[in-house]
Amino acid sequence: MKRVAILISGSGSNMIALVRSMTGDHPARPVLVAANDPAAAGLARAADLGIATAAVDHRRYSADRAAFENALLEPLLAARPDILCLAGFMRVLTPAFVARFEGRMLNIHPSLLPKYPGLHTHARALAAADAEAGCTVHEVTAVLDTGPILGQARVPVLPGDTEGSLAARVLAEEHRLYPAVLARFAAGDRRPVWLP
Ligand code: GRF
Repeated sequence: MKRVAILISGSGSNMIALVRSMTGDHPARPVLVAANDPAAAGLARAADLGIATAAVDHRRYSADRAAFENALLEPLLAARPDILCLAGFMRVLTPAFVARFEGRMLNIHPSLLPKYPGLHTHARALAAADAEAGCTVHEVTAVLDTGPILGQARVPVLPGDTEGSLAARVLAEEHRLYPAVLARFAAGDRRPVWLP
């Protein structure tokens, strides 16, 4: 049974979808939900689901990214994760941290990578008048949002779409894609998942 730790920064809706998917004959189980913000709403939601939680406030380590990561590593390594899932985690990780988990750390990004790495992905898709948008699950490597793609889900951009309406449509697909990718990845299968 693979042990999965999930890193969040906010509402944790992707974390909830992942936790809810790891049941029955699924080859993985959640062992920790950790946040860089003690006020992250996802922490209480994880606790409600019986998952151990940890919070390391990155603002206490304002200048020193490595010090924040060393503090985060304490509860993280104690949970002995086999797989790390970044789910709405909004901190850039140092290459040293990534190196510890390379090959077993996943992230979900709200664009069809390699388009729109970084922030404000939906605004950028709308500004470009793209006909479609979506989300990508990829392996995390030292360069932000560029690791091997493990899955993508596509949605249409509709007339009158706002950043909010497009984000909501993509988020619903994130909640389908990430669990599908994790189930396959935890079984040792790295073939990409394409939705629909
Ligand atoms: C959302 O914008 C999502 O697209 C991205 O992270 C943000 C928060 O997601 N992956 P969550 O609800 O905290 O999972």
